[in-house]
Amino acid sequence: MILDGKAVSEKRLEILKEEIEESGLYPRLATVIVGEDPASQMYVRMKHRACERVGIGSVGIELPADATTERVLEAVVRLNNDPDINGILVQLPLPDGVDTTRVIDAVAPEKDVDGFHPCSLGRLLAGTPVFAPCTPQGIMTILDEYNIPIRGRRAVVVGRSIDVGRPMAVLLLNADATVTICHSKTENLEEEMRRADILVSAVGKAKFVGPEMVKEGATVIDVGINQDEQGKLCGDVDFEAVKDRAGAITPVPGGVGPMTIATLMENTFRAAKLRTC
Ligand code: GUN
Repeated sequence: MILDGKAVSEKRLEILKEEIEESGLYPRLATVIVGEDPASQMYVRMKHRACERVGIGSVGIELPADATTERVLEAVVRLNNDPDINGILVQLPLPDGVDTTRVIDAVAPEKDVDGFHPCSLGRLLAGTPVFAPCTPQGIMTILDEYNIPIRGRRAVVVGRSIDVGRPMAVLLLNADATVTICHSKTENLEEEMRRADILVSAVGKAKFVGPEMVKEGATVIDVGINQDEQGKLCGDVDFEAVKDRAGAITPVPGGVGPMTIATLMENTFRAAKLRTC
């Protein structure tokens, strides 16, 4: 079974659009982009387009690649203090000269729609999340939409990043999976991966996951956005080689990616609702 993230995201965006309309609210998202990385610019454009589609207002702050940490912090603080802004998204990665941790920590937790602030991650760990990071939360939505059982299942997350691997593991744990986190120093990685009923790969290496790493019938979630030898977009998973062995699998493109943006929209609406509570 192909897990069609694009279709799920379309469905969720349509539902969200109606919910926003019925709420009478006009949520607003601010994005901050530093520098001119074409991939980051494209992602931010896609986020603004999604906002427009569902009835969320959006403003984009663009800072030059040589902006100092102080300059970025100033922009974030201004957005924190702007009562018309409900959600703030600082597009990552930031240029080398900017202190990413200080910038993320400066975002007001009630506007942290990316879910990267330590408050958001701490709440997630405590089992009382407000904003979970969009990519792993979007994956939970895909699993839910396709009724893939999680409780008691063995989940293996490969990758331990703050934005994907760690929160993914905690979300699966909170849903009662038995969770293993693997990373670059894991011994017997293949063996660990082969035990997974749900395998999430967030490694960033093209065609890293082959059929020998996948248990027959497993659900395989591919978070990778890589380029193959021909420069074509591909995931972490060797899709053609794995698809017949997996019980269910997300493609790249059209799997996890669209869900990240749909979840960002859902988080922004939640931020707007929280403000009125
Ligand atoms: N860069 C790549 N993915 C993301 C994301 O989900 N949020 C932000 N802010 N930056 C990213």
